[in-house]
Amino acid sequence: MIKPDAVADGNIGNILAMIEKAGFKIVAMKYTRLSAGLAGKFYEVHSERPFYGELCEYMSSGPIVAAVLEKNNAVEDFRKLIGATNPANAEDGTIRKLYAKSIGENAVHGSDSDENAAIEANFYFSQFERF
Ligand code: RTP
Ligand code: MG
Repeated sequence: MIKPDAVADGNIGNILAMIEKAGFKIVAMKYTRLSAGLAGKFYEVHSERPFYGELCEYMSSGPIVAAVLEKNNAVEDFRKLIGATNPANAEDGTIRKLYAKSIGENAVHGSDSDENAAIEANFYFSQFERF
């Protein structure tokens, strides 16, 4: 996902360009907005964390871009491309180093496993929306 802060800042194009340049194939994509309830469902694994309420509020604060990406070793390579959760710790040249504002408003989401990538892709897209 390209998160609400990066969409509001006009960075959709910059971020998609970095993703394509890094060799990811876009299999599905949409511009949409989550309700607080849907954001809560997407990030349910974090429901016990202290930042959960803030996270759901932020993720529903504006439109986002959801996409399914394909590549060998995609999960690990995408997390390398986006950089650390906190942009202060993100390496130079990563998406979060360039575009994230804070540990909360950090520009992009990446799946943390193949299993969760499949669950998250199914959250947004039917089989007829993938090419
Ligand atoms: P993501 O799932 O969004 O790709 O981020 P991540 O794996 O790098 O980080 P994760 O631990 O899964 O946290 C999910 C998102 O919750 C927000 N967060 N806020 N205020 C805080 O301390 C805090 N910690 C995490 C961030 O938006 C983070 O990306
Ligand atoms: Mg995560």
